[in-house]
Amino acid sequence: MAALAQAGYHTFGLDLQADRAEQVALQAELDAPGTRHGSRACDVADEDQVVAAFEEARAFLGRIDTLVTSAGVVDTTPFMDIPVARFRRIHDVNVIGTWLCMREAARHMQPGSAICAIASIAGLRGGGLSGTAAYAASKGGVIALAKNAARVLAARGIRVNTLSPGATDTPMIEEPLRDPAHRARIESLAAQQRIGQAQEIAAGVVYLLSPQASFTHGANLVVDGGIVIA
Ligand SMILES: NC(=O)c1ccc[n+]([C@@H]2O[C@H](COP(=O)([O-])OP(=O)(O)OC[C@H]3O[C@@H](n4cnc5c(N)ncnc54)[C@H](O)[C@@H]3O)[C@@H](O)[C@H]2O)c1
Repeated sequence: MAALAQAGYHTFGLDLQADRAEQVALQAELDAPGTRHGSRACDVADEDQVVAAFEEARAFLGRIDTLVTSAGVVDTTPFMDIPVARFRRIHDVNVIGTWLCMREAARHMQPGSAICAIASIAGLRGGGLSGTAAYAASKGGVIALAKNAARVLAARGIRVNTLSPGATDTPMIEEPLRDPAHRARIESLAAQQRIGQAQEIAAGVVYLLSPQASFTHGANLVVDGGIVIA
């Protein structure tokens, strides 16, 4: 949200943690005077909440012409031990939540709008960083889902792309990265030998949403310091 605010966007954030969303919105207003930022609590896996949240976002913003789907949950349970309910919840949030937000945003969008879905290189590599099977499968699902959305929503004049971050310094992987051996292994996987910063991911998001990316459609931009090099 901070990078979008700096780029001049007005935003409306949805998060399970209302206080976190509110804090981010308040900070964006301070950092980017003249832009407006709202928020509300929303479980993106809950259809009724998502429908209501997009109505509220539309009322707050006046129109919706960009969407970033970033809400997500990681899971680090070993393959043989993941409870089925946990596997389902990861997919409810990461895959169904992404689809519900795309669907509701598309209802409000006019031609010329753009969507950026945040996936992960876990969806390309089958995990192997901090997340395990449920997370990797869900992010592979996000990449496929966004490609389908790119085909379908083109008819409405909506561009859809995915951004797949590599390991990035955020609360999501704070816990696994406390283990120095794990951190060193993740860093060594990247050609740049480091973990990324959130601003480096956000810069890619701003690009994909911008008019500069007008012919970029159905793409998956990998921003990972050189882990997936193909
Ligand atoms: N940090 C990384 O290394 C990394 C790497 C690749 C991809 N990603 C992806 O980037 C995105 C952003 O993650 P982050 O790194 O900022 O992690 P984060 O944990 O800091 O942020 C994720 C946010 O999603 C919210 N959330 C969780 N479940 C939700 C739900 N059901 N409804 C609404 N909000 C919900 C959380 O409250 C949190 O604010 C995620 O999709 C994540 O999978 C992160």
